[in-house]
Amino acid sequence: MPPAGENLTHDDGSRAPTVAEWLRSAEARLQSAGVESPRMEAQVLAAHILRVDRSWLFAHPEHEFNDLAGENLLSRRLNHEPLAYLTGKREFFGRRFRVSPSVLIPRHETEILVEEVLKEASDAKRVLDIGTGSGCIAITCKLENSSLEVWATDVSGPAIEIARENAETLGAEIIFRLADLFPEADNKFDLIVSNPPYIGREEPLAPEVVDHEPHLALYAEEEGLAIYRRLAQEAKGHLVVGGKIFLEVGYTQADKVVTLFEESGWSHVRTVMDLAGVPRCVVLQPVTG
Ligand SMILES: C[S@@+](CC[C@H](N)C(=O)[O-])C[C@H]1O[C@@H](n2cnc3c(N)ncnc32)[C@H](O)[C@@H]1O
Repeated sequence: MPPAGENLTHDDGSRAPTVAEWLRSAEARLQSAGVESPRMEAQVLAAHILRVDRSWLFAHPEHEFNDLAGENLLSRRLNHEPLAYLTGKREFFGRRFRVSPSVLIPRHETEILVEEVLKEASDAKRVLDIGTGSGCIAITCKLENSSLEVWATDVSGPAIEIARENAETLGAEIIFRLADLFPEADNKFDLIVSNPPYIGREEPLAPEVVDHEPHLALYAEEEGLAIYRRLAQEAKGHLVVGGKIFLEVGYTQADKVVTLFEESGWSHVRTVMDLAGVPRCVVLQPVTG
């Protein structure tokens, strides 16, 4: 519970708003700015400022609200800063991950990729997550199947730091490497998973994304296909015989990615759709024999 009875009277003698008043006004301003879920976001911001659960707000509508702290965060949100960067956290697969502007905010679609990996990870020993960002894929795989040996790479040092911190907080033992796609050459993996940067430079993006998320995590050359092309050429040498690669793809990219891999000697295992019927994940395997 936040400190009660704090004197939040303003310098001009006016009183601070109550929680309910601040929520109403914040919701209206977020709505005018075109934020999709203004009520929920106002509640998340208020709960974050007061360091309480959202449910506490409904039980204490008359509590005084620190509207200076509120105004600061609200104006950043109205300036399109993503909610997850303001609160510093995002849920993924039912767990709370710390995020900062150094890492992509984990997306719900990526949970599909993790589910596909886990389906085939029961007897797998080594899994490599390429471009780990917050660590959400690697850490979730390890926590859902503790028998796996999970490695994770990223070219971004600050991202690896956040991923390490999440691994420690959530209790997952992961081998992290600051590396361009693959760790040391003599390591082979049973499964490779990646949600690589796949957005083409020309693609229009919401200001929340383009102005605030790391471009290293978003963009790839060749209309977003450049990292897939490198993976198609290089990943075979890092897989054991019978190994597979699991890739998240952009909403128009599944067929292009499959073709690109097939041209480099891979066979298509399956494509997985999201709930909206959009192809989101492709699974491939090197052609043998
Ligand atoms: C789309 S983000 C995915 C982050 C996280 N795996 C997720 O799903 O939320 C792509 C990540 O790949 C990293 N990255 C970009 N180029 C890379 C490269 N050549 N080698 C390794 N990581 C790379 C970026 O720094 C970023 O963290």
